[in-house]
Amino acid sequence: MKIDTEHLHFWMQAIRQSPDPMRTLDGFWSGQLKSKEWLIEKLEPYVHKPSFIEIHGGWLGILSSMIFQSNIPVTQIWSTDIDPACEPIASMMNKQEEMVGRFKAITADMCHLSYLRQQENEWSVGDIIINTSCEHLTQAQYDFWLTQLPKTALVVVQSNNYDLPEHVRTAKTLAEFKEQSKINAMWSGSLTTKMYERWMIIGYKNI
Ligand SMILES: C[S@@+](CC[C@H](N)C(=O)[O-])C[C@H]1O[C@@H](n2cnc3c(N)ncnc32)[C@H](O)[C@@H]1O
Repeated sequence: MKIDTEHLHFWMQAIRQSPDPMRTLDGFWSGQLKSKEWLIEKLEPYVHKPSFIEIHGGWLGILSSMIFQSNIPVTQIWSTDIDPACEPIASMMNKQEEMVGRFKAITADMCHLSYLRQQENEWSVGDIIINTSCEHLTQAQYDFWLTQLPKTALVVVQSNNYDLPEHVRTAKTLAEFKEQSKINAMWSGSLTTKMYERWMIIGYKNI
């Protein structure tokens, strides 16, 4: 996909202004970018109207920025991450959209979002909910997260078979990931990157 120069400028600003630019650059490895491009390509045929997208475990906001530059019709994107360091970086990555109210970076545990919504009397929930950080959630956390999502939301989940200390629940095969995910798949598949296999499922939850 093409990244335009105006967005690229804000990507560079986000890296430059982050407290640890080398660490921020971890989000820009080829495997990370390819996985997001792949998600956009496979999701696009299922999005038939301008949609409100929530990205849980949204990290640096790279996926949000790539979606804004894609053909997926979007009203707004909220990118939520538990790490407070992500919020200013994601905000800068998506500065143009943030300035016109189409993007919001939120610091929160994705498992507690419905509780936070209740507290803030905020009842809007995304038409599409994306979680590309499934390998960072235990099965119990994932199940709790999924239970809280509306049945009407189109769900996109990604995981991988890359064993790292922070990856608390990888999947060795796509079949194993499907078993973990409890989603009626409309589409599922794998992407081979240099370091690992990435799994993805698009569908509606079945619990
Ligand atoms: C390394 S990143 C993203 C990895 C993923 N493969 C990707 O490319 O999108 C994983 C992110 O998940 C976030 N995260 C982990 N547990 C979370 C939770 N319970 N709620 C929200 N974000 C979480 C981490 O803070 C981190 O920013």
